[in-house]
This record gives sequence, structure tokens and C-alpha cells, in this order.
Amino acid sequence: MSRLAINGGTPVRQNPWPRWPQWGESEREQIQAVLERGEWGGFDPIVKEFESRFAKRLQVKHCLTASNGTLSLVAALQVLGIGPGDEVIVPPYTFIATANAVQLVGATSVFVDIEPHTLNLDISLLEAAISPRTRAVIPVHFAGLPVDLDRLIPFAQKYGLAVIEDAAHAHGSTWHGQPVGALGDIGSFSFQASKNLTAGEGGALTTNHDHLKEGLWSYINQGRTPGGAWYEHGNLGSNLRLTGWQAGILMAQLERFDDELARRMENARRLHAILAEVDGVEPLHWDERAEFHAFHLFIMRFFPEGFQGLSRNRFVQALRAEGIPCSTGYSMPLYAQPPLQSPRSRLLPCPATEQACREVIWLTQNLLLAEPADIDQIAEAIFKIRENIEEFCIDQEDDET
Ligand SMILES: Cc1ncc(COP(=O)(O)O)c(C=O)c1O
Repeated sequence: MSRLAINGGTPVRQNPWPRWPQWGESEREQIQAVLERGEWGGFDPIVKEFESRFAKRLQVKHCLTASNGTLSLVAALQVLGIGPGDEVIVPPYTFIATANAVQLVGATSVFVDIEPHTLNLDISLLEAAISPRTRAVIPVHFAGLPVDLDRLIPFAQKYGLAVIEDAAHAHGSTWHGQPVGALGDIGSFSFQASKNLTAGEGGALTTNHDHLKEGLWSYINQGRTPGGAWYEHGNLGSNLRLTGWQAGILMAQLERFDDELARRMENARRLHAILAEVDGVEPLHWDERAEFHAFHLFIMRFFPEGFQGLSRNRFVQALRAEGIPCSTGYSMPLYAQPPLQSPRSRLLPCPATEQACREVIWLTQNLLLAEPADIDQIAEAIFKIRENIEEFCIDQEDDET
């Protein structure tokens, strides 16, 4: 029996994992080209070129880039006319940007619980959250798995709600073969450094509706009147333009995007199959209606009973010592964060969210870019911890992870 690395044994994995972001000659050439064209900002032609390339990739009529995936959500809400007095339904298990965007336009976030096995908004709970002030819902395709759009879209239609898809984790994910981001009224993407398609920072908005595209373009460009004179500002707006540098990097990243997407899925499928047989851990459900799943994160639920009462924090520490980087994700629901607490928000009971904050473990997408044999080491490390469980004094104090 080998000693656990947390107790001084040899780690299962000693080699580094694939780095993120990845870059090569193509990024260098794009940056050089932006430099030499001398425009540099949002009017460099590469920005429009990327927008039309990304729109084509997502099978959506319009794509407009933005400075990041938080302000793109703000732009979407503004253009839909959502503001003070309005309510927007959001999940409480997501990055804070989703709800911050609602607060930033002066509307109120209404938190509705998630499904424990997908961490996506639980559509069956939406009805109870509706009020005469409800205007929109922002589903997050968490970790890359699309929310149940078969139930969400008819629900939104029934109540006249706008659907803004927060697809910050879901570049390339599909639902019944259709890429997400084009299935609601507006889709919002992030190109922040950890994301599966990245320029360090950046965002994008997608829509099939011409009038929403006009409104979004205007908001991103200081409220300029579409088709009007340069200094004609018919609307309230801001400057959310992506730079030429970012668009150039994104063009280069798009070249490897489909290969990376396929590799992440293949490795996730492999890890999923192994871990599905292991007591004490349970990978999140992969809905077969999502033929493509971005796997921005690979998430598993951890149950101490399967590891003789070992706490999640100690398990994560042991896994990290074995050379498997992982984390416990969000430590609290969004409604517990001071700027989002009641009365600034409204909430229904969210037991699944509270449970997720206590029980899940995240692995980041770059691990899924490794070779299949490397992926097996993740499972090997878990088996090693199980086999050597008596090395832990189960009553030991937990440290924060
Ligand atoms: C679900 C979700 N929505 C929105 C955002 C905001 O994106 P950005 O960091 O580009 O502002 C993020 C970023 O991490 C996110 O994870």
C-alpha cells in the first residue's frame, strides 16, 4: 500500500497539467497584424471579422463583442428595458456577475434553486417565483451543461419573460444540436482568462432578433443611433467595445477551439465512466440532449459516507497533494453575499444550492486537455485515498480549501 502524498508519500502525478490559456504562432501573427494596421481599438476590422466568424460558429444571426461577460449581461438587460421596479430570476449558484448585472441596472434579483444533479436552474420551481414585476430570467448553462431549455422556453413564453442565456461557461455547447446562445432572446459569453475561448478579458452578445441587435450595438457604442450621424446619440449607452488585440487573439483561439472542445468531451466521458462506479463521488449528470458539452468545469459531488466520514475539505487537500488540482467552488449562495442580500433581492428556499456549496468539487477545463492516461490518474488518486483512508484521523480539524 503506498503512503498518501499528504502524509509524505509520492504523489500519483508529478508532471504539470496542460497550461491555460494555450497560444502559438497564430496569436503572435494576429497581434503583429493589429499592431501594424495601427487602429488597435474596437474599429480594427478584425473585431467585425471575429463577430461574423463566431456568429457562424454558433449558427446565430448576430454577434456583437463587448468588453466582458458582466457588462454584456448589463447591455442585454438595458436593451430589454429592464430597470428599477423589475424582477429578474437568476440561480443562486453561479458566479456573482450574473446577479450583479441585475443589480447594476437597478432591478431586483429573484433567486430560484438549482437541480442538485446538474447545478442548473430548477425549472419546476420557477412558477412559484413569478410576480407581476417579473420581466426576465437569466439561466446559466453551468459548467457548460445547457439548462433544460425544453421546459424553460415554453415557460418564459407563457409568462412573457425575456430569456437571457448566460453562456459564459458554454462556448460550443448544444441543445438538440443547436448551439446555446441563440436559443433565448439574447445570449451572453465571456472571454475572461479562465474561459474555454479567451482573450484574457472580453465578452460577446448573440441574438437572432434584428431590433435587439440594433439596440445592443447602440448601447455598446455610446448610444449612437444605428444608421445615424457619428455624433448622433439617440439612446443611453456606454463604451463596451472589444479591442483589436482581443479580437485578434480570439480569431487565433478559434482555430483550435473545436479540437479542444472534442478533447474535453472525450476525456470527460472517460472520467465520468470511471467515477460513476465509485462510492462517495458522483459526477454531475450529463444530459443526452446536450450532444456538445463545453465542460468548462468537471464537477463531482462528494459524499463523506463513501470515505468513512472524511470531510470534503480533507479529501480535496489529499487530492491536491496527489497532484490533482481541484477546489470546492463557491463557499456560499449568492444571496448570502452582502450586496445581494434581502431586501436588494428576493428568494425562495434554496436547499440544493446550500447543499452544492457543501458537497461539490470542481476540476478546471485545462485538465481535460491532457492525454487519456493523465485523466486516469485523477481516478487513481481517488482510489489511492480510499485505499489508505485509515491514514486520516477522521476527527481532525478541517482547514479552509
Ligand atoms: C457564469 C458567469 N457569468 C458571467 C461571468 C462574467 O464574465 P466576465 O468575467 O467576462 O465579466 C462569468 C465569469 O467568470 C461567469 O462565470
